[in-house]
Parts: sequence; C-alpha cells; structure tokens
Amino acid sequence: MKKPGSAIDPLWYKDAVIYELHVRTFQDSNADGIGDFPGLISRLDYLQDLGVTCLWLLPFYPSPLRDDGYDISNYTAVNPSYGTIEDFKLFLAAAHQRNMQVLIELVINHTSDQHPWFQKARHAPPGSPERDFYVWSPTDQIYKDAPIIFSDTEKSNWTWDETAKAFYWHRFFHHQPDLNFDNPAVLEEVLKAMRFWLDLGVDAFRLDAVPYLVERDGTACESLPETHHIIRTIRAAIDDGYTNRFILAEANQWPADVRPYFGNGDECNMAFHFPLMPRIYMALRQEDRLPITDIIAQTPPIPDSCQWGLFLRNHDELTLEMVSSDERDYMYFAYSADPRMRVNSGIRRRLAPLLDNNRQRIQLLNSLLLSFPGTPIVYYGDEIAMGDNIYLGDRNAVRTPMQWSSDRNAGFSTANPARLCFPVVMDPIFGYQAVNVEAELSDQSSLLHWTRNMIALRKLFRVFGRGSMEFLNPENRKVIAYIRHYDPTSRSKEDTAAHVRDLTSPGTEIVLCVANLSRFAQPVSLDLSEFAGMVPVEMLGYVPFPTITAAPYPLTLAPYSFFWLELQPAHQPRNSTEAYTSIPDEEPTLDQLTLDASTRPLNPL
Ligand code: NOJ
Ligand code: CA
Repeated sequence: MKKPGSAIDPLWYKDAVIYELHVRTFQDSNADGIGDFPGLISRLDYLQDLGVTCLWLLPFYPSPLRDDGYDISNYTAVNPSYGTIEDFKLFLAAAHQRNMQVLIELVINHTSDQHPWFQKARHAPPGSPERDFYVWSPTDQIYKDAPIIFSDTEKSNWTWDETAKAFYWHRFFHHQPDLNFDNPAVLEEVLKAMRFWLDLGVDAFRLDAVPYLVERDGTACESLPETHHIIRTIRAAIDDGYTNRFILAEANQWPADVRPYFGNGDECNMAFHFPLMPRIYMALRQEDRLPITDIIAQTPPIPDSCQWGLFLRNHDELTLEMVSSDERDYMYFAYSADPRMRVNSGIRRRLAPLLDNNRQRIQLLNSLLLSFPGTPIVYYGDEIAMGDNIYLGDRNAVRTPMQWSSDRNAGFSTANPARLCFPVVMDPIFGYQAVNVEAELSDQSSLLHWTRNMIALRKLFRVFGRGSMEFLNPENRKVIAYIRHYDPTSRSKEDTAAHVRDLTSPGTEIVLCVANLSRFAQPVSLDLSEFAGMVPVEMLGYVPFPTITAAPYPLTLAPYSFFWLELQPAHQPRNSTEAYTSIPDEEPTLDQLTLDASTRPLNPL
C-alpha cells in the first residue's frame, strides 16, 4: 500500500504557489534570537491568508551553519535551535490542516565535514567501506575541467586532509565534502533519509545541487548519465512507496541542459528555470521584451506531468551564471552599483532594493512571475518589499529576519537585539519600522494586499499553472504580450497551439497578458484576429473591454502597467470559476459590475 501525500490531485504542484522561508529567520518563539518551529506554526495563519499553498523550508537539520544549513551533519533530525522532531511533526500537521503542502531540502551532493560519515571516512583506511563514502584522491590534478562555483572563497575543488593523507572533492565550500555516488551504499543511506521524511508526510523535496552528484575525469563533472541514473532511482523509490509527492531539481543550467532532468517524466517533476530569471530583470532595465522571448523560445517542451519552477529572488545571490559575459557586465552595471552587492557570479540583493523600491516595477515583475508558464515561488519578505543588508557577509544580505511589526526586533523575537541570529534591517527606507506585515495589513493599498489579491486571482484559473503560452509579436518591443490557453479536454499542451485549438471546448480558459516594460506610457496594437468576436474581460476589476474584431486591437498601457484579460465568448459570460458564479446569468452591465461589490471577485485594489 503506497503512502498518500497530503494533496488530492497528483499534479497539485502545477497549481501551487510556493513560499520559500527559513525557519531560522521567520519567527522566534522562545526569545533566544533564533526562529523555530513553534514560531513558524504561530505564523501559518498569515501564510494561509496570503494564499500560498506550499511552504518550501530551507535546511533545518543539525548543522555547523557555515553554509546556512546546507552543510548538514545529520539527515534525519531537526537542528535543536529550531525545535524537536515532535515540533516538526506538529508544524507539518498544522500546515496540512490549512491545505498547505510542505517542500523540504534533500541536500545529497555533499555533507558537512562534521557529519559522522566524513569523520569516520577520514580516519578509516583507504579502500575501506567507510572511506568510500566520499571522493578521495592522492592528487588534485584530476577533474580539472569542473568549474569552481564559490569562486570568491574557494581556490580549488580539492582540499588536502591531513588525517586521511588524501585530497577530498567538494564542489562548494571546502567544509562540504561531496558524497561518492559511485558507492551504492551512499545511495542506500540517502534513500533511507528520504523515506524517513516521506513517512512523516513531507510532500516534496528540492534536490540541491543535483547536477554534481557524479564526477568523471575529462568532463565538467556536471549532468553526467550516471547522475541521471541516480535521479531515476530516487524517483522510482518515491513512486514505489508514495503518492502525490514531487521532486524539484536545482540545476542552474541552460534550458536545453535542464530538459534531461525531467527525463521521460521519470526524473524530476519540477526544475527551476534559472536562465529566465536574470532576463526578466534585463528586459525591465532595457525596456525590451527580447531577453524574455528569446530564452522562452530556447526552452524545450517538457513532459506533460512536469513543470517549471519560476522565481524572481531566492536565498542565494541573483545568479548570473546563465548569461553571457557581456550580459553579466550589464547586469552588474544596472543592478549593483556598490561592489559589496556582488558575490561569486551574482548580486546579493532583494527584490525591492533591486527595483529601487519602485512599486510599479515590483508589481510588474510579480505579474510576470504569476502569469508565466510554471509554478511561482515567492521569497519570504518580498511580499512586503523587505530590504537587504549588504554589510552582512556571503549571501546573508538577503536572509535577515522577517519584519512582522514595528515592535522590538521587528516582532521576530523578544530577545536582546544583540542576540539575534541576524540583525533586522534598520535603514530608514526598508527598516522594520517602515516596512512590516502589521502596517501593510492595515493599509488596503499596500503591496501585501496587492500580492494577496494577485495570488487569489491566479488561483481561480487553471490556465496559469497548466496552460500553454504563445507570444504575440507587436511592433512595440517595450510591450510583452502573450496568450495563455488551457483546454482540460486536450491531451497535451501542443493540442492548444494556435492552428489546432478549439476555443469553445468546455472548461477552456484563455487569458491575454500584456505588460509595459517601459517607464513611459506605451501604445500597442495586437493581432487578435484569431479571437474575433470574443470579449476581453480585465480580470482584477471584471471590466469588459471592446469586442475583438479582425482588425488590430489597440491598447494603451501606463508606465510599468499590465493587463490580464480573460477572453470570453461574446454574450456568454462564463461562470466556470468560483468567483464568477455569483454573477447573474444574463450578461451584466458595466455599471452592475463596477458598482455591485458583491459580484467582484476580489477586494478593490
Ligand atoms: C545551493 C543552495 O541554494 C546554496 O544556498 C548552497 O550554498 C549550495 N547549494 C551548496 O549547498
Ligand atoms: Ca528560538
């Protein structure tokens, strides 16, 4: 009997809205200055109200915390600073009770050098089973084609261990030795750890640093066939024993190189779209849609059960590995005036400061995140436009405590401020007195309210998580326009391509998204002749626009503004979504719609 996950639909991850957070910096419950599981539980109502449906927890396992927990010293326990395994179980049950799924980290490329496996390995004789858990060599002259990822701190991927009298391999910090996946006993142990969490009811795993599992000399030691074999084994173990779970690949690669991580639907269910992310920022700064349309054109189709994971920011630097060197220079120039804002190949800033705290730009980028094909991931604090602290080392600039209120320590903790795991942001613009949840909740026009509305709106439609996407090609390149189309009766996304799609099949959702990347108002003229006779309805206000004809369809967009327009058959107002069912059967007039608040799907913005 397979153990069921908490979600009902096996493809639930396609409709999810993921929220990424660190237990350590979310809410402290016992005044020791460190966030913990009881604290997180006390904030679940907030997350449920925000509308996110899946919580991604950064690593919460025992760890010396030299890589914010990605240096794990025990795979099947909770770091005592954050609570106990019982606290974790309570958290999981409380999240599930609120219909939120839980995604945790499976960091198996490496462990901490404090993991008992490594301590045994370095003391064990060469060739012993214990030694064989890691990758050792008498020379540091092999695997030389593998790039160094943490180039600011590490000079080599090999480090000499005096006890073992050998070099050990590490793709990240020198205190994070890589596990040896050529040894089947390693995979066995990893599967045991994975089952431990699956048995508790965890819904999903992010496979950290997954391209680097196996090394071969003469290659970049990335994405090797042997690595894919390991991923298939992991996936098969999940499918054999459990239902409605998923795995998400962290593979910072070009789209064509990420494609194999989906396999034939038998590897990862989801993978981050790394190259899209910097191009969204580039398109904004250049006021030109090309960087986005170009990378999406280079993105191969993926199996129908698979999904892209989309994000604007996360806990790492805004990585610039997937851009050309000219583009990297441009991004540094445009988004990191102070050299302190840079780390490795990226920029360690949060969303709001990157966008000069410009509300329109923040909303515009979120509108793209929430309407591009894939599952959106929101980084904690970005929903309230939190700032960063570039005077903290490494990537900790973007890892400061969540700002809940203007109380001491931003309401994160009642500890002595000097004791906090990271200081709260205190500058005059982004400091917790100015930017916090409590204030934004009481301000109807806050970014928090706006974000909540947008998430709620997105969740009314399946098209965003499951539909196809096609770009329109208006002459004005400052405007990006695309059609999202979902037909529940079609077998695959290809069936909804322009030449074959059936616009009238039951349950069909068609949404036209149009966004102005420019700081000035822009006109645009769209070829919508395929949809002639249909009525675009602006989705936030439920406002009908003029009926589409065979002629070019003109729109005018305010600076950085966007429209989401549902294309509805004329004279047949749809009522397929929950929000729209309260609308009377006969076609409502514009006055009825705008004046009668009860028919409006969402709070006015
Ligand atoms: C990727 C994680 O996102 C990053 O934070 C970490 O430092 C590396 N993997 C190494 O585990
Ligand atoms: Ca605590």
